[in-house]
Amino acid sequence: MFITLEGPEGSGKTTQLPGLADFLRAQGHRVLATREPGGTPIGDQIRGVLFDLKNKEMHPRSEILLFQASRAQLVETVIRPALADGQIVLCDRYADSTLAYQGYGHRMDLAQLREIVRFATGGLQPNLTLFLDIDVEAGLKRRDKDGDWNRLDDYALDFHRRVRAGYLELIAAEPDRWAVVDAAQPPEAVAAALQQAVLARLPQAG
Ligand code: TYD
Repeated sequence: MFITLEGPEGSGKTTQLPGLADFLRAQGHRVLATREPGGTPIGDQIRGVLFDLKNKEMHPRSEILLFQASRAQLVETVIRPALADGQIVLCDRYADSTLAYQGYGHRMDLAQLREIVRFATGGLQPNLTLFLDIDVEAGLKRRDKDGDWNRLDDYALDFHRRVRAGYLELIAAEPDRWAVVDAAQPPEAVAAALQQAVLARLPQAG
């Protein structure tokens, strides 16, 4: 089973993912947790290029292709082998981030993006995508408190509003694949909701 986590800035995905992985392990599953961009030595180098504050002149098309290069490496060398081995794969961001950020956020052509994503992933799609939903301003405030600023954060509030609205459109188009969790709740409540959403989709551990 391939599970991805998505959400706007400050939704707390990255904080929640290790706890969700531990919960599933305690249920008897073997779990591989990874993230995008990154998750492989090559992907981590690409991540460095993407987030380097020196690279402010990066063109949106270059950015799209770098995200896909990191993704292709992760899919082929980490995700597919783990799935073939019967593990549950949990991935912090995946293809939907490209559609939400580059498509809805940067207004790049969605149909073209879907093609590029299909090329990068070889068509691998998640079985379940957990959406940690939070109001855009609340999310940005929460994130800034951590002082974790990078080049991609340097966009206007409007950009982030388009990203969240884009996610909501993606969810409406494919509701069976998504589970939406209210990320404004206390962390323990978010964790419990994520666990419920996954358990509802999983066959019992043998
Ligand atoms: P990161 O520091 O990993 O934080 P988080 O996932 O917790 O937000 O930043 C990832 C950033 O990259 C985030 O701003 C979303 C962006 N991104 C894209 O724009 N397109 C993509 O395809 C992916 C995977 C991420």
